Amino acid sequence: MRCLVTGVAGFIGSHLAESLVAQGHTVIGVDAFIPYYPRTIKEQNLSELRQNPNFSFQELDLRTAPLQPLLDGIEVVFHEAATPGLLLSWQDFELYETCNILTTQRLLEACRQTKGQVTNSSNSSPKVILASTSSIYGADVTGPETTKAQPVSPYGITKLAGEHLALAYYHNFGIPVSILRYFSVYGPRQRPDMGYYRFIEAIAKDKVITVFGDGKQTRTNTYVTDIVRATILAARPADRPADEQFQVGEAFNIGGRDEINVLEVLQLLEELIGKKARIEWAASRPGEQSRTVANITKAQQMLGWEPRVGIKEGLAAQIAWQLG
Ligand SMILES: NC(=O)c1ccc[n+]([C@@H]2O[C@H](COP(=O)([O-])OP(=O)(O)OC[C@H]3O[C@@H](n4cnc5c(N)ncnc54)[C@H](O)[C@@H]3O)[C@@H](O)[C@H]2O)c1
Repeated sequence: MRCLVTGVAGFIGSHLAESLVAQGHTVIGVDAFIPYYPRTIKEQNLSELRQNPNFSFQELDLRTAPLQPLLDGIEVVFHEAATPGLLLSWQDFELYETCNILTTQRLLEACRQTKGQVTNSSNSSPKVILASTSSIYGADVTGPETTKAQPVSPYGITKLAGEHLALAYYHNFGIPVSILRYFSVYGPRQRPDMGYYRFIEAIAKDKVITVFGDGKQTRTNTYVTDIVRATILAARPADRPADEQFQVGEAFNIGGRDEINVLEVLQLLEELIGKKARIEWAASRPGEQSRTVANITKAQQMLGWEPRVGIKEGLAAQIAWQLG
């Protein structure tokens, strides 16, 4: 299939595009190199892809660029572009509002325009797979997708708005959308602002690690290849005909299988790296979730997806990449 991957220079987008081209699909990737973290890291993420003849890249900002030309012949749009992270979302709301809400609306609107074009004989729109987040739920996340969304950070609020836009375009104009709520993703190329990246860096370089709250806040972290597999399954489930769009208009939790708290992670990292962590304690941060446990029953049943990589194996791979 011919795919558009937005945010392709990012952590998840680059892995997703690599997997798509490896499966023989054609990928057009776009990214604006938003300086949330350094461009050099994102260029590095893209370096292998740029060698692949089935991959082409356009540097453009989804907030302003004309988007309809990008959709020419595209069957699936994987919308990974966003400004992630909780902390900055309290300080620069406009960045989150525009990169997370406006970009989503502009893409969906471009799909609608494409669908309505007289030259579009099939009268179809590309399928849109929207990367969302467990942060839409709020402080504690343990339930299924029907759990009330009560985000506690501006980031979560903008991602939830993106979900609502996608569903509005689905219900009003028949744009086929599926929403994937990723739960804390880790693995090679993890963003440098994320917990595991910072912990590994600190332990390796004998720097102090600040643990917020009591360190007992838990996550079911998801290894990046598991995220990629779920994302591609949502576009075209392996065992279902391509035109059977049963998963359209639905949201899915996509999370790993091991629930683990911060102190347990640090212990595991100490073991894997072979050094002790230096810990200092601080009060918990506003908007921080205390428990996120992915209920993935719906993804198991409707997408036929299972997480495969356990936390120890996944952390070892991230360490090998980061310190290798
Ligand atoms: N990493 C996680 O743990 C996690 C968890 C839940 C959800 N998500 C979601 O997954 C997606 C990917 O996250 P990530 O961790 O890879 O982040 P990332 O920051 O590494 O990648 C996002 C990319 O989008 C690009 N981008 C942002 N705004 C853009 C714009 N206006 N035009 C073009 N490009 C733009 C950025 O430059 C960046 O390269 C995001 O939608 C995020 O909300 C991530």
